Amino acid sequence: MKRILGISGSLRKRSFNTALLRAAESRFHPLIEIGDISQIPLYNADIESNAMPEPVLQLKSRLMDAGGLLLVTPEYNSSVPGVLKNAVDWLSRPSLDVSNVFHGKPVAVIGASPGGFGTIMAQSAWLQVFHGMGGRFFSARRLMVSGASRAFDEHGNLTDETLTERLDQFIRAFRDFCAV
Ligand code: FNR
Repeated sequence: MKRILGISGSLRKRSFNTALLRAAESRFHPLIEIGDISQIPLYNADIESNAMPEPVLQLKSRLMDAGGLLLVTPEYNSSVPGVLKNAVDWLSRPSLDVSNVFHGKPVAVIGASPGGFGTIMAQSAWLQVFHGMGGRFFSARRLMVSGASRAFDEHGNLTDETLTERLDQFIRAFRDFCAV
């Protein structure tokens, strides 16, 4: 089966969301591979009309080859984080390519927050974004990690057994969704 491309929406080294994605990657190797958004510039139509940035082209090509997209999103001010929205905006360019990249693409969103609501509002906001681009949104399960600082050790290893089981169930269900 084709790989699932996982993208974390946080650039910081000790990110809970990146740690969650790494946990999924290691538990489901080689199903999940990680895409990087750290080198993607701020969207600027002038840059685009000159040449698409190489990091965008590379990530877009990997996404087109992937059987599904797993977005691991922080929540900022009750919505999506700017760096991740910026990357997704680039991936949707040029607009003629949106259908090639996103139409019918299985998309799942999970996320982690040290707060009590586990990115529920960011996840809901992503639904609208991917609906607009024709993605096939996975909604049979949800994974919202609240109290994230208690779920990982200081090296970013997932240590919460219940959460590990929930992560496994989520990825298995999404894998089946991608395969249909
Ligand atoms: C936050 N944070 C946050 N958390 C949350 O649950 N709901 C929210 O609305 C917000 N808003 C918010 C805005 C801004 C500008 C920042 C910087 C942070 C806290 C956020 O969940 C926390 O910083 C996480 O640790 C970010 O994810 P990573 O970097 O750990 O993956």
